[in-house]
Amino acid sequence: MTHDMTSERRFQFGRNWNRFIARITPERISSAKDSLIHMLGHNSLNNMHFLDVGSGSGMFSLAAHQLGAQVRSFDYDEVSVATTAEVRKRYAADSNSWCIEQGSVLDEGYMRSLGRYDVVYAWGVLHHTGDMLRALANVGENVTPSGQLFVAIYNKQPFKTRYWKVVKKAYNKNAFNRIVIVLTHMPYFYFLRGMVRFLSGKHRLERGMSLWHDMLDWLGGYPFEAAAPEEIVDFYLSRGFILQRLRTVGGRAGCNEFVFQRPNSTPA
Ligand SMILES: C[S@@+](CC[C@H](N)C(=O)[O-])C[C@H]1O[C@@H](n2cnc3c(N)ncnc32)[C@H](O)[C@@H]1O
Repeated sequence: MTHDMTSERRFQFGRNWNRFIARITPERISSAKDSLIHMLGHNSLNNMHFLDVGSGSGMFSLAAHQLGAQVRSFDYDEVSVATTAEVRKRYAADSNSWCIEQGSVLDEGYMRSLGRYDVVYAWGVLHHTGDMLRALANVGENVTPSGQLFVAIYNKQPFKTRYWKVVKKAYNKNAFNRIVIVLTHMPYFYFLRGMVRFLSGKHRLERGMSLWHDMLDWLGGYPFEAAAPEEIVDFYLSRGFILQRLRTVGGRAGCNEFVFQRPNSTPA
């Protein structure tokens, strides 16, 4: 699953997140908080240390901060870092319990320097690094004994994963490709998936996200890897983690979500 990025262009995640933050509303922050509470199984994160790996917009760092956690956020993309800092300035300007920096989850020295956290959160990040397996292994080391690791990883689909990889590569090549790809895929995102959401009674996107920014992230998000749920489960079980919560996309496109607990007996 390792991916060489030397000759290929990455998606500018930060630019997309920077445009998204104008859309952050109290309802969206509340959905972000609900998603953390629901998956982690706590009513609050009071006195917990929360590491947001690949913070993107910073909305989930903000949610964790509002839930009472001491938050450390980092992202590889400098615009994502600046965007997270802007969100902190807007919503938590006086806070001294939220720090933000630039760093890569693939940098073992940097990851070691961060220490351990009660909650390590890496939602939709590790499959965009170019080396998902290494990233999965690295984040596991930052979890405190009996702490939680919350990861979300693209679901692997037999043929569609290959299709999306081609689309994402092409998207990042030039502006012409981007326009063609957005125009040809808009009906799928806005009408087909919108219809499925409408019929299943889910009128709003989960986690407080926006359809337009989610669509661009999906069409352009490269590097790109994917895994079947059992691959992720086996990966962490073989390292002694316990699966606490699993939420799959039921074989469809999207991210499967996993919460693992690091066993208490792990040497500190
Ligand atoms: C799809 S976004 C997810 C953002 C956020 N976690 C969320 O749930 O909304 C993926 C983020 O991962 C970041 N990223 C990609 N490679 C990374 C790396 N090696 N280290 C840290 N962050 C990385 C990207 O810059 C981007 O902001």
